[in-house]
Amino acid sequence: MSPTEGGEIRHERTGLVFRPGLEGVPATQSSICDIDGQKGLLSYRGYPVDVLASHCSFLETTYLLIWGELPNPQQLRDFEQEVQMHRRVSFRVRDMMKCFPSDGHPMDALQSSAASLGLFYSRRAIDDPQYIYDAVVRLIAKIPTMVAAFQLIRKGQDPIQPRDDLAYSANFLYMLMEREPDPLASRIFDRCLILHAEHSLNASTFSARVTASTLTDPYAVVASAVGTLAGPLHGGANEDVLAMLDEIGTADRAADYLDAAIASKRKVMGFGHREYRVKDPRAVILQALAEELFARFGHDEMYDVARALEAAAERRLGPKGIFPNVDFYSGLVYRKLGIPRDLFTPVFAIARVAGWLAHWREQLGANRIFRPSQIYTGCSMRQWSPLEDRLPSAST
Ligand code: ACO
Repeated sequence: MSPTEGGEIRHERTGLVFRPGLEGVPATQSSICDIDGQKGLLSYRGYPVDVLASHCSFLETTYLLIWGELPNPQQLRDFEQEVQMHRRVSFRVRDMMKCFPSDGHPMDALQSSAASLGLFYSRRAIDDPQYIYDAVVRLIAKIPTMVAAFQLIRKGQDPIQPRDDLAYSANFLYMLMEREPDPLASRIFDRCLILHAEHSLNASTFSARVTASTLTDPYAVVASAVGTLAGPLHGGANEDVLAMLDEIGTADRAADYLDAAIASKRKVMGFGHREYRVKDPRAVILQALAEELFARFGHDEMYDVARALEAAAERRLGPKGIFPNVDFYSGLVYRKLGIPRDLFTPVFAIARVAGWLAHWREQLGANRIFRPSQIYTGCSMRQWSPLEDRLPSAST
């Protein structure tokens, strides 16, 4: 084994080259999302994300991601209506959620509930466009209902039913908070969903595509992606950012915190991205959305801490190309909207299900099962010995 430039490892016997984290290794072709990490540009199906976030709804963006074109008025009305009709979840799913431990993480509850849909819709006909459409509608419709249901169930309450007169985002906030949200809050939440809807071959989307490539059902595809999104290096970072800002406490302590984190080689949550060498364009928009919320509903002092940390990080981490990512300001937006901290990542999943389903559909269109190779680093040709002759090994 010999290390080469860029952290690659070359296997001498086979000549195979291993790149940890598959950095820079294209694992698929895709026409869904494009990122220019040097310029900080992000587009879905060729449309800049800031344009979509300013002019479209989340369901309109979902339609674009999954079917490749923006819907016309009739297509959008039909899609919205179908989604609205499928928002309810079976009482069996709700009963199952009532058996979950109330102190369990909502991402685990979501992963289990998403997987359970495969039991209720067990027909698997992935060659049938109607099956694909129905599965998309069901998942887009039911994931928010399941997130809101677990929130009420763990508080010892019964989930409330979706309201047909409310649009997608307003209905989710209503089911979660049990009161009709302010229209500005709903619109800002909808824009957050657009910003989180898709981001090329990130860890959870890769997980979704690998699962999809086995031709399993879309509920298993989404459940595997939810499990991957939950990790603190991926979607789970939004929750950890607020814990970090809490720990820092006040803006004047941000620079010292950063110095200590760098000195002890601890990652600063909400910073850094494999793709971007500049500030994540979504973080730029989320920061503006946070300011819009603060102007309307009151300032949050945690924002001052965040800005002080960003300023300090620009000096210390900026030269390495490490800047705020999507998770840095999203938590401040969600906190102002009244969303509990451990629901930040499930909210991310509500949005990202659109991207996962777009990749599911794309994967099915030109499928070949994922089966990469590995470089074996274990022992070879060892001598077997009978049980009674074996000494305790160093690893136990
Ligand atoms: N804080 C401090 N240093 C960092 C950070 C950070 N947040 N991110 C990267 N670095 C440094 C590393 O220490 C490393 O430095 P070195 O070369 O001196 O050893 C270098 O930058 C490269 O870091 P890697 O971890 O190898 O970068 P990678 O591309 O593998 O990881 C990741 C990207 C996981 C996002 C990383 O930046 C990180 O852990 N960030 C914090 C967690 C986070 O915010 N995750 C959310 C990402 S966005 C999303 O998934 C939705």
